[in-house]
This record gives sequence, C-alpha cells and structure tokens, in this order.
Amino acid sequence: MTSDAQGSCELPDTAAPAREADTAGTGADLDRRAGAITDATTAAVDAAITSRRSVRAFLPTPVPRATVEQILAVAARAPSGTNTQPWRVHVLTGASRGSLSAKLCAAFDDPAAAAEHTPEYAYYPERWTSPFIERRRKVGWDLYGLLGIGRADKAGMHAQHRRNYRFFDAPVGLIFTIDRLLERGSWLDYGMFLQSVMIAARARGLDTCPQVAFIPFHRLIAEHLRLAPEEMVVCGMSLGHADPNAVENRLHTERVPPAGFARFHD
Ligand SMILES: Cc1cc2nc3c(=O)[nH]c(=O)nc-3n(C[C@H](O)[C@H](O)[C@H](O)COP(=O)(O)O)c2cc1C
Repeated sequence: MTSDAQGSCELPDTAAPAREADTAGTGADLDRRAGAITDATTAAVDAAITSRRSVRAFLPTPVPRATVEQILAVAARAPSGTNTQPWRVHVLTGASRGSLSAKLCAAFDDPAAAAEHTPEYAYYPERWTSPFIERRRKVGWDLYGLLGIGRADKAGMHAQHRRNYRFFDAPVGLIFTIDRLLERGSWLDYGMFLQSVMIAARARGLDTCPQVAFIPFHRLIAEHLRLAPEEMVVCGMSLGHADPNAVENRLHTERVPPAGFARFHD
C-alpha cells in the first residue's frame, strides 16, 4: 500500500512543461500567460472557485488515477516560501481506503478507544469567541437541520460525524501530511495547496470535502499508511462526484462580503 500511495503523489514528468522551459527568463511564458486571459478564462476560474463547496455525499463513480494525478500536478503550482513545497499526499482508493475507513469507524464508535486518540495539533481555538462561535454554530445547525438531526439527537450527530471516516462514500480519499519540523509559514503554503486541489477538482467537474475530522486518529492513519516518522497528518479530503440527490449537499454556507472584512487605505 505504501508504495502505491506514495507513487500516486509523484507528479508526471509532463507537469507544467511551459513554465519549466521558461526558466531562462525570456519572458515568453509571461507573454503567453497575459494573452491567454480572456473573459471566458475569468468566468471559468471564478466559477471553479465560487462553485466549490464542501460536499458530504458522493456517488460511487470512480475517478481515474490520471485525473487525480492531473489535479495534484496543477495544485503543486501553488506558491510556497522559497519554493519549499511542504505538501505530501497519500491517495487512497479501493481496499486501502475501505480498510482505513473500517479502522477509523471502529475507533470512533468505541468511546474508550476514541478517548485515546487526540490531535497532534490544535485546528480550533481552545476558547471560542464572537463572531467565530456564531458562524460555527450556524453551519452546524444548518447541516443538521437539512438532515433532520435535532439538538438532542446525539446518535444522529455521531452517525453524521462518522461519515467523515468513510470519506462520505467518495471513491478517493486523500490524506495530507507535512514534515513536523516545518513551521507555521509552511502551513500557510499548505492551505494554498489544499485550495488549489479543490479548485482543480472543480475544473474537472469533481467535488471535495476538506476534513480535519481525521486528525485525532493520526496514529491509526500513520500505521495504516506506514508514514515516515517525520510525517504529521494535516487533514484529509474526500474527492469524487457529488450525489445530486443527497439532502446534505444542498447546504449553502454564507460569507461576509468584502465590506465586512476589508478596509481600503488610500
Ligand atoms: C481545513 C478544513 C477542514 C475541514 N474539516 C471538515 C470536516 O472534518 N468535516 C466536514 O464535514 N467539513 C469540514 N470542513 C468544511 C467546512 O465546514 C466548510 O468549509 C465551511 O463550513 C464552509 O462551507 P463550504 O466549504 O461549503 O463553502 C473543513 C474545512 C476546512 C477548510
């Protein structure tokens, strides 16, 4: 399994040949890029970004390995400080995806086992304050509302959270790792890479759900993927074709418009 997963994250030799050819600094690459931006390009890029949302129910339709490789090759054009490229990706499909899901679900279902699994890093703050707590609550209750899960329905919430560990039935599960020696700056780079994966997926009609739900179970994941000692689990991601009939996929989250978060200084 290890060699498969790691083999899947190796980029094909053909990745971005035009840019590599321009390392001599002729400017030809820049000219080509300037000319390539038309209104259609703008519309397509904006559509790929704005149509991305977290999908939590997928069809079993497979995603070809070549498509996953293309998505990763495109996403690897993400910037990173001094081109450090801190990302490392484990691509899980078939039996490997299924057996990891089974192990994670078993641990999640057993309260004693689950209590032994704690995240290696804090994704969320220890203390929630406004306005973040309200936004967090809203998205949670909106999702549960669509699914008919009431506020006292602990079993319903458990079942929905558990679906994370089945990659929401997506045919492709991604586990992202980083060298734990790297600093916060590299995590910034990592976020750009993750978003690029999700946008490149949209550009191919595919959907995703980024998932921090995996991080408490990093020891199980490390064992399953035979992670190198320096590899730390950043998050997971489901990738596949959205189920258009699933009620949870009707969730549309709100955003504060720029006037609410940007100040222009003239
Ligand atoms: C790094 C990261 C981790 C996330 N982890 C989870 C997760 O474990 N499970 C889940 O259902 N959604 C997860 N989400 C999805 C967020 O809830 C979602 O992005 C947010 O509510 C905004 O909705 P949208 O993605 O549909 O625009 C995660 C998002 C990010 C960026």
